[in-house]
Amino acid sequence: MKYLRLGFLVSHGGSNMQAIIDACRNGNLNATARVVISNNPDAFALERAKKEKIPAFCFNSKTDPNSLDLDLKILKTLQEHNVDLVILAGYMRMLGNKTLSFYKNRILNIHPALLPKFGGVGMYGQFVHKAVIDAKESTTGVTIHLVSNKYDQGSIVAQATVPVLANDTPQTLSERVLAQEHKLFWQTLKKISLGKIDLDKIAS
Ligand code: GRF
Repeated sequence: MKYLRLGFLVSHGGSNMQAIIDACRNGNLNATARVVISNNPDAFALERAKKEKIPAFCFNSKTDPNSLDLDLKILKTLQEHNVDLVILAGYMRMLGNKTLSFYKNRILNIHPALLPKFGGVGMYGQFVHKAVIDAKESTTGVTIHLVSNKYDQGSIVAQATVPVLANDTPQTLSERVLAQEHKLFWQTLKKISLGKIDLDKIAS
């Protein structure tokens, strides 16, 4: 079994990050959260990190107007905290090439729909669930995928389905999808740590 040292990139609430931290704490997952990086100084995820005593940083285009500097700062912070797997848990920015290439096949994102459907630019938050309902889909779900330099397009690592109910609104649907996200992420990380999922094989 491989012990996972996780680095989180977040922008908002961080409930997915919390679900993974909880899985580490209660023994479901052989991993620790080493560092949290947010682009948003007001992200509640930073409060969560503080409460959990996890080193946390805010880096963005204001702290580092040069995008290469920002990329290198993020990479250096992940490296300094010995991160071996990077988790995008609601991170609303594109990672830079230095970070992407150093952590090739070691960066995971979670998306609240069944990719390749309902992904790409503009497909985030309630927009995803509204599009699913407007398209009259009977099933939606969650996708965990490897991160590439195109939004939502890396190889798919795991998916779980969620039924769309007749009276669903984007809000009610998002709540059920989020509950599924909170399970799928740690369960997928557990499979990675047990060697049941090989990220290099998935990428090739
Ligand atoms: C989740 O719905 C995730 O799929 C998407 O952003 C949202 C993050 O929620 N990428 P939270 O910050 O983990 O609560």
